[in-house]
Amino acid sequence: MPTADLVLTGAGEIYTACPAAAEVPDDPGLARSTFQPELLTDTVVACGGGRILYVGPEAGLEDAVDVSEATVADLDGRLLTPGLIDPHTHLVFDGARHEEYALRSVGADYQEIAAAGGGIRSSVRSFRTADDDALYYQAVPRLLAMAMTGTTVVEIKSGYGLSLEEELKALRVIGRLQNEMPVGIVATFLGAHEIPDEYREDREGYVRLVIEQMLPAVEEQGIASFCDVFCETGVFTVEESERILTAAQERGLGARIHSDEFDALGGTEMAARIGAVSAEHLTAITSDGIAALADSDTVAVLLPGTTLFLGKKDYAPARALLEAGATVALATDFNPGSSTFLSLPLMMTVACSQMKMHPAEAWQGVTASAARALRLDREIGRIETGMRADLVVWDADDYRMIPYAAGHPLALVVIIGGEILSFGEEDDTVEA
Ligand code: NIG
Ligand code: FE
Repeated sequence: MPTADLVLTGAGEIYTACPAAAEVPDDPGLARSTFQPELLTDTVVACGGGRILYVGPEAGLEDAVDVSEATVADLDGRLLTPGLIDPHTHLVFDGARHEEYALRSVGADYQEIAAAGGGIRSSVRSFRTADDDALYYQAVPRLLAMAMTGTTVVEIKSGYGLSLEEELKALRVIGRLQNEMPVGIVATFLGAHEIPDEYREDREGYVRLVIEQMLPAVEEQGIASFCDVFCETGVFTVEESERILTAAQERGLGARIHSDEFDALGGTEMAARIGAVSAEHLTAITSDGIAALADSDTVAVLLPGTTLFLGKKDYAPARALLEAGATVALATDFNPGSSTFLSLPLMMTVACSQMKMHPAEAWQGVTASAARALRLDREIGRIETGMRADLVVWDADDYRMIPYAAGHPLALVVIIGGEILSFGEEDDTVEA
């Protein structure tokens, strides 16, 4: 009989998801998708060895697991959910781009700033001056701030190095975060994030550098799970993106794409055709793109914080995607240029208010569907026996409270791999 080290009892409501239709919350407006939300009551969860060992009625607990050594926590009617998963961030970067933000606030445009040499290229110039330690110690508080909002797994892209050596530096720092931080981290190689300054007159030379030098090194060092490309007007074409992503697939990396952020070039359709894991942004997606995602296993990752932060009016068509049957995940896109949001609960609020997702759909977007977007859906994103014990106890009693509360700090206890995360030393010297 497995031995539990932690038993969570007394949850008022447990939000999770299951692969097929089960007990759907009694609310209208939910579209079909890969996972269906499920609300459990009168249910205890036992964890041991970093895994979920038991999910079920209290009466069956002691027949299933040995609880003699376990810490038992009474949640006193609170909401219990899976840990949140952020499947799209650019968390390792140097400095900030608040000057550009100020310019945009009075009317400048993100793509115009980029075309004039700012944007991603300005972060690249700064990244290249920073050493591993400087990048690592800037990333740590960002990750902890995410964890405090309930995030337990974060995808992080390279993409501010844009040379062989500098991209490997980015992936090395991501690897160090993976080894040293309690939060789960998934690494993505995004050498094709921009054309760097020194290749502006030789874009083919840069595409070949990515394919012929960077990808082999990334494969050989085993330092990334995915390869991503920014397919957009002024950045990489659909044809260049396809060459890079299929070369990555041949080297065992899963393909992801930034597509249809500003212009619909056909990158989303291409991604679905080549079996990419995800297509992300999708603000300008066409009906062909929606149909392509609905007919494929390519997950639509929507980034409503980017639309909000850039001051744009048109959000990605979440409803059309959901109703067509696509799997829809949500992410922060945390980066220095187009989204400085760290909080997935706040992204859920924007998704519900602006994209008209139901709170249950937003929850799926940051749990089960986000896990699917990282191809980790057999490991994380749901509260089910055998899954990793990534869990959050909220200062709320109903799952709809979290998007409703618009980023209020309601994550009370964050559990990652069965370990309760503590945000600093307890100071028992302070007099009550
Ligand atoms: O996903 N669109 C491309 N990449 C990022 C922005 C990166 C930056 O501006 O530094 C994004 O929005
Ligand atoms: Fe991005």
